[in-house]
Amino acid sequence: MKENKVILGLMRLNQLTSEQLVTVLRGALALGIRYFDISDIYCNHDAERKLGEALRLDPSLRSQMFIQTKCGIVRENGKTTMDLSRSHILEAVDASLKRMGLKTIDCLLLHRVDIFMDAKEIGLAFDTLKKEGKVRHFGVSNMDMSMIEYLESGVSVPLEVDQLQCGLGQLSLISQCFNVNFPAQNPNLADGLFFGLKRKGMVLQCWSPYQIGFFEGSIFDRKRLPKLNEKLDELALKYHSTPCGIATAFLSMLGDNVQIITGSMNLAHIQEAVEGAKLVMSKEDWYDCYQASGNLLP
Ligand SMILES: NC(=O)c1ccc[n+]([C@@H]2O[C@H](COP(=O)([O-])OP(=O)(O)OC[C@H]3O[C@@H](n4cnc5c(N)ncnc54)[C@H](OP(=O)(O)O)[C@@H]3O)[C@@H](O)[C@H]2O)c1
Repeated sequence: MKENKVILGLMRLNQLTSEQLVTVLRGALALGIRYFDISDIYCNHDAERKLGEALRLDPSLRSQMFIQTKCGIVRENGKTTMDLSRSHILEAVDASLKRMGLKTIDCLLLHRVDIFMDAKEIGLAFDTLKKEGKVRHFGVSNMDMSMIEYLESGVSVPLEVDQLQCGLGQLSLISQCFNVNFPAQNPNLADGLFFGLKRKGMVLQCWSPYQIGFFEGSIFDRKRLPKLNEKLDELALKYHSTPCGIATAFLSMLGDNVQIITGSMNLAHIQEAVEGAKLVMSKEDWYDCYQASGNLLP
């Protein structure tokens, strides 16, 4: 799984027709991308159906793709709740399989924590899904180490992935590592998560790697982040890359267990991410990028 450095995220596929989506999927495969990320709630519950439509238009695509979806966020009648009960997980997977027209989901992630989640109940749901051949691999998203270890107390299949926001526009996962003695500069409560995932051999999937904060815009907006873009331009020139290539290399260098989920539907942008993930900068340049994004090194 983790040999796929760049994942194509399909959260924004509603901007495409099914035919255009087929073109993007073919193009991504041609660039070497095999791993695709979606969720039952993306595009108001319509993303999986649309992916299914594209897979019906070109049935040769499925066997080349590793498809990961998520469950647990429930949005109905304008209300949001979290549901990681056994019955919801089983029903959600059946609904996802039906919408995408699949027999198997390659990886299922629990999208966010449900404060009422019960590790044993989730373990039973995962065992059923594995035994019935409906899901091959399992993981979580937006969970800290205490949640992962709690789930591990009741789940017998390995939890292989934690999908978290991480990128030059939202680096709290990394900056907490440099600020263990400085609580004022360490607002992220997910202490120990970055190295905890490495220790467990879990994959860190970086979502929205080029977003500022929580969907506040792109980090490539020069007016909003002039210092960072100056540094990205300088390093792009030095490494024969692009600003997106450098921002991707910055994440890729964090370890063999790191994957970057680009959500672009633009093949030229996707290619920049793929090329960037192969790039290794000097450590000095990595730290320069870190600081140019507004993060302090004590
Ligand atoms: N687990 C979770 O809770 C969670 C939450 C959110 C997202 N996700 C996953 O993360 C994926 C990515 O999220 P996202 O789409 O919000 O973020 P993103 O891929 O970081 O995109 C953010 C912005 O960066 C721009 N961009 C990307 N490559 C560029 C390039 N080469 N040059 C210039 N601009 C570029 C994009 O524009 P263009 O679109 O024009 O390229 C977009 O405006 C989603 O598809 C989803 O799979 C997971």
